Amino acid sequence: MKESASASAPGKVILFGEHFVVYGKPALATAIDMRVTVKARPRRDARIFVNSIDVKVSGYCDGDVIHICDGDSKAGRKLEPIFSVVRHFQNVTGKSGGVELEIKSEIPASSGLGSSAAVSVASASALDRLFNTGLSRDEIFKISMEAEKIVHGNPSGIDPAASIYGGFILYQKGKGVERLDLDIDLPIIIGDTQMERSTGEMVNRVSQLRTRYPALIDKIVCLGEEIVTQALEALKNRNLEALGEIMNINHSLLNAIGVSNMRIERLVQAARDAGALGAKLTGAGGGGCIIALGTRDKISGIAEAIQNAGGRPYITKRSMDGVRFEE
Ligand code: MEV
Repeated sequence: MKESASASAPGKVILFGEHFVVYGKPALATAIDMRVTVKARPRRDARIFVNSIDVKVSGYCDGDVIHICDGDSKAGRKLEPIFSVVRHFQNVTGKSGGVELEIKSEIPASSGLGSSAAVSVASASALDRLFNTGLSRDEIFKISMEAEKIVHGNPSGIDPAASIYGGFILYQKGKGVERLDLDIDLPIIIGDTQMERSTGEMVNRVSQLRTRYPALIDKIVCLGEEIVTQALEALKNRNLEALGEIMNINHSLLNAIGVSNMRIERLVQAARDAGALGAKLTGAGGGGCIIALGTRDKISGIAEAIQNAGGRPYITKRSMDGVRFEE
């Protein structure tokens, strides 16, 4: 066995179809060039030790008991999904020794950019490299999904799928991932409301609204599918004006299902006023991030407008690389 092994995995933005994807509709996402890197080392004892440097949390798990070494009252909740990745890896591969995982992340947590999925995917992959187990992408997806269920309750699977495969992906629950061969450089500006929220709670909120108004919400969910069909057409035709307009329509539907708020609306409007072709919330909403589609000459103006409206702008590029081993 190696002395250590590292892997990294990207975050993602959902371009179209978040929430509707939970109800079996397709969604379109792209991996972004913000990554999580995990270094795995074997231990002499049977402990699973995790040190998440940027989140400032560390602890270990001895059997079923979690011990926190560093972190606040939420530390156990933050570590649990990572312990779950290790346990599922051990179950799938039969490799039962203790391990130490060191996690470094460029992705802000709880912001809709897929940080938890990237942590799970990079962790499973670093363990795969360390023990030389040759896991398939499908096996890494299944291991990561178990951790995602702990974090988000009823996730669709789009976050780990985008993180594993990279590039543009079309994802549908049950059907899996279609990696799209699109050679288009979308000038996307991310605006972070810096308001943390829980994806699981937002998904629950939509589910409760659907229980109260099934006929209305199901029609909106179906429109979500049409949104993705038309967005794909616009992408294939490189029609960025149409893509921006469809983003605006998608945002209105997300507002209709109750996942927007004032901070999000302020950033979306600021980006549009600064010349964005379109802007929408991305991910679960309730805080987190928005994305704006710019033209090359408008990128810095849009980023400045987001900042002036109280958000933190990130100018990112899509990442063609999904999960990968690192030296
Ligand atoms: C979270 O990034 C996207 C949601 O659609 C939830 C999910 O798909 O699991 C809100």
